[in-house]
Amino acid sequence: MTLLKIARMGHPVLLQTAEVIADPTARNVGRLLEDMVETMEDAAGVGLAAPQVYEGKRVIIFKSPRERGEDGGAESDFSPLTALINPEFEPVQDELALGWEGCLSIPGITGAVLRYSHIVYRGYLPNGEEVEREATNFHARVVQHEIDHLDGVLFPMRMTDLSLLSFNEELKVFMEHASAQATADANEENLPS
Ligand code: NI
Repeated sequence: MTLLKIARMGHPVLLQTAEVIADPTARNVGRLLEDMVETMEDAAGVGLAAPQVYEGKRVIIFKSPRERGEDGGAESDFSPLTALINPEFEPVQDELALGWEGCLSIPGITGAVLRYSHIVYRGYLPNGEEVEREATNFHARVVQHEIDHLDGVLFPMRMTDLSLLSFNEELKVFMEHASAQATADANEENLPS
């Protein structure tokens, strides 16, 4: 396995539409996924999309760890580390939630982004099996964030209020001003992906 270089905001690879993978079980896809997992874990992220490592392919990895849920939470709030090939999603409800996001391609920055809070997503596992899962809250957020990367969209491009964009170090001060707009639990949702 190899640690990969992570593209940072401003590099054109992050603005391109990634290509559909013809064969999810191809050996080069498996190798890419192994390297992406190593790279994401090394960077302490919770999600990574192939364009972030200069591979314009529709491949994402993500996790929504159970330890993030302080009050238990629904089963659909959580996901183990998952690799998905050619992922897609659709909202189950129109409800949007504002939550803090980071991105390994935008180090040191956090912003509040509106996302669907309840989605269904589909894709292929590296063994070729097709999966469909429901996702809520942070699990839904990280999947939407990673799929956005496959379409050349970075989280600041989704923001409707750029006053909610902050350096991580300033966020504590910032939260005092933003608390009227951001939900209290969104404070936890600032892990980079
Ligand atoms: Ni990201």
